[in-house]
Amino acid sequence: MTKPYVFITRKLSEEIIRPLREIAEVHIWNEEERCVPREVLLEEAKKADAILTMLSEKIDKELLDAAPKLKVIANLAVGFDNIDVEYANQKGIAVCNTPDVLTDTTADLTFALLLATARRVVEAAEFVKNGKWKSWSPLLLAGYDVHHKTIGIVGMGKIGEAVAKRATGFEMDILYHNRSRNVVAEERIGASYAALDELIETADFIVCLTPLTEETKGLFNQESFRKMKKSAVFINVSRGPVVDEDALYQALLAGEIAAAGLDVFAKEPVEANHPLLTLPNVVGLPHIGSSSIETRAAMMELCCKNIELVLKHKQPKTLINKGWGLSVN
Ligand code: DGY
Repeated sequence: MTKPYVFITRKLSEEIIRPLREIAEVHIWNEEERCVPREVLLEEAKKADAILTMLSEKIDKELLDAAPKLKVIANLAVGFDNIDVEYANQKGIAVCNTPDVLTDTTADLTFALLLATARRVVEAAEFVKNGKWKSWSPLLLAGYDVHHKTIGIVGMGKIGEAVAKRATGFEMDILYHNRSRNVVAEERIGASYAALDELIETADFIVCLTPLTEETKGLFNQESFRKMKKSAVFINVSRGPVVDEDALYQALLAGEIAAAGLDVFAKEPVEANHPLLTLPNVVGLPHIGSSSIETRAAMMELCCKNIELVLKHKQPKTLINKGWGLSVN
């Protein structure tokens, strides 16, 4: 019997892929830095029973229609806005992501970015490296305190909760906004639910962790930045399109808010000459929320496991389109 065909859209560690090789013919776009070209992905999709994708690949109707044998897509991310899940569902294709294993790592990075932005860590490090430090002075690179301030978390899923937990160590007041109330976060962490406007107007640190959907696209716009405190620090670790970048740039330029820490951008990779990156009060990172060696390995393993389970006609561990499982027996 011929083995199922698995296509992996980026170079991953051989050790992690090994179990998949035992049950499938595995083909890889063997580059670490460069995305698989669309035409190669479309060709591979024709043969594939499973695809292990990165968030840089658009898994849309065209791709799904080109993949008659496809049974499972395993996305190396918790977010899945790059995948037309509804259409995959109609086609009976399982879609899997990598929740849980990246929660603490992404929360760590969120808090690191918040601290770096508030305390001007990147600017200060550059200052020293560029030989600009000539004397100690009372307000040299003075930033904003984080401790005892108010953090407002928009998107209170598992990562939001983990960020809130970290904020308790800084004795912060914690506000959150979410589609539904998170009673666990309220009871265990002491977070208080707030309407979006109230959160935006009150918080010193506004942290965006909401997934990208039709509803959240452009959620942070000119109006929202105008409502924030002049000393507010805005942090985005979800997806770039949740923010109107032009509005953010104008708000920072006009001093409507104090600073921004961005791990994500509307277009990635972001160009070095992007207006936001020309501002000293913006800390920009290359979408590294979950990027620790341990967590990326766990994410890769989870993707491979999910593929293996579906190919063996079993329920995958982290399925997005829940209805899919009903057709498995
Ligand atoms: C995710 O998992 O969605 C993250 O954005 C990847 O770092």
